[in-house]
Amino acid sequence: MSESLPRSGAPQSGDADSGRLLAMGSELLVRFSALLRTARTHDVSNQAFRRQLQDFMGVLLQVMEEEDEVALAAVAENFYLNGVRLKASASLLTVYHSLIEEFDRRSLGGVRFLQGVSPAEMERFLQLFMAAEDATLAERLPEAVAEASIEHILPVPASDLDKGDLTQALDEERDPVGERGRAKKVFWRAVLGTRRIVVRAAQTGRPDLRQAKRLVQPVVDSIMRNEYSIVGLTALKEHDEYTYAHCVNVSVLSVSMGQALGLPRQALADLGVTALLHDIGKVAVPGDVLRKPAGLTPEEWGFIQRHPLEGVKMMFRMPGLSSLTLDAMRVCLEHHMNFDITGYPEIEHEWAQATMTRIVALADCFDAMTAHRSYHQRARTPFEGLQYLLGPTRVQFDPAVLWSLIRTVGLYPAGSMLLTQSNHVVLAVSPNPADLRRPYCRVLVRPDGTALPEDVEETWDPMPQSDGVVRVLRPEESTIDAQERLAA
Ligand SMILES: [Fe+2]
Ligand SMILES: [Fe+2]
Repeated sequence: MSESLPRSGAPQSGDADSGRLLAMGSELLVRFSALLRTARTHDVSNQAFRRQLQDFMGVLLQVMEEEDEVALAAVAENFYLNGVRLKASASLLTVYHSLIEEFDRRSLGGVRFLQGVSPAEMERFLQLFMAAEDATLAERLPEAVAEASIEHILPVPASDLDKGDLTQALDEERDPVGERGRAKKVFWRAVLGTRRIVVRAAQTGRPDLRQAKRLVQPVVDSIMRNEYSIVGLTALKEHDEYTYAHCVNVSVLSVSMGQALGLPRQALADLGVTALLHDIGKVAVPGDVLRKPAGLTPEEWGFIQRHPLEGVKMMFRMPGLSSLTLDAMRVCLEHHMNFDITGYPEIEHEWAQATMTRIVALADCFDAMTAHRSYHQRARTPFEGLQYLLGPTRVQFDPAVLWSLIRTVGLYPAGSMLLTQSNHVVLAVSPNPADLRRPYCRVLVRPDGTALPEDVEETWDPMPQSDGVVRVLRPEESTIDAQERLAA
């Protein structure tokens, strides 16, 4: 049974078969994810569950009309359907990564659905799949499935997967593809974990600090290894988990800025946690106020302005005060005060933001200003964000911390579309601390004017010394969707 799950090799563009699999594959992932979500909260006899099961089976059988079997494999942070890599488009990002996590948690490399699979089998399989969340049961999943006489659904352990040339390169240290793959895993784990922390905090009235530490640790490890792909991932803004991703982005940027400022490992870990929780007080702000794009009434604005203090109050509810709790309180309280103490909450005493807060506050601004569009304007590009922060507004930030932001994101931050001297159009995807002017890039348009299709990945790791940026393009100047390309 341990034959190669994904038929190796990338799909040829224009291949009708792989085009069909791509379209149906995304649909299958969406249905599978919805089915798992429903299975978690509803009994199998429930109407909602039956409907989800029916929808999933509908898509599965449709794929099977033209395929002998349906093999869904999760390899190196990517899904493959019968060997065709399913792209994680911006709209699919959350589904994609939460499913990868579900597979990961069960040490599962893939699932094969064979001709003859029935809804009843799928239902039994799901029950075993849900139970396998427990590590000891996860190991036994293939056996349990066989014992339950499920013949047409075969779970394939990750260890059995013949990963072949798809993952060979991943073992090589410093390999850019492998590093980006690892970074995606750390990043999305942190986003999904943050969602759990925030949801729990809204129920219990206090954040789980231990959980936050666990999420931040791999971020610190990655940055301490001088891997910066994870910083590039903070440029992804257009997905439905942005609220949680914002916390992770601020944490990643803060840790990286802290490293540029020479903070030791323990301080970076603490900084990462306080940054992750900086907005936790927002769980006390009514949701419709938070979601309102503009035009807040004075009363609504009052709600927003209370979130720093609400955060502090939540920290007080934590059992046992540690220096980390105190730091987290301080960051919650001060992160909108500004370096020149012109922000909120207003304070009558003489006050100065803690170093940690100065870092978090700038990371917060940089991330937020490149994510939110106001009612008459598109969101700022990361490059415009940097220009703005370095303009007259710079008095609101500590100059040393501004310097560390540039060290972290470079002069052309991830998400910038660049025209180069060699007449290429490229997309910056990760910063290059060795040369702030030459980020890691993905080629979008060749000098002869050919635009590369989405599934052709030509990268510069990083931009060569012989080339350089002529200018930064505005989004209006290109039909290419930078967010889509970043997500891929
Ligand atoms: Fe805030
Ligand atoms: Fe924030």
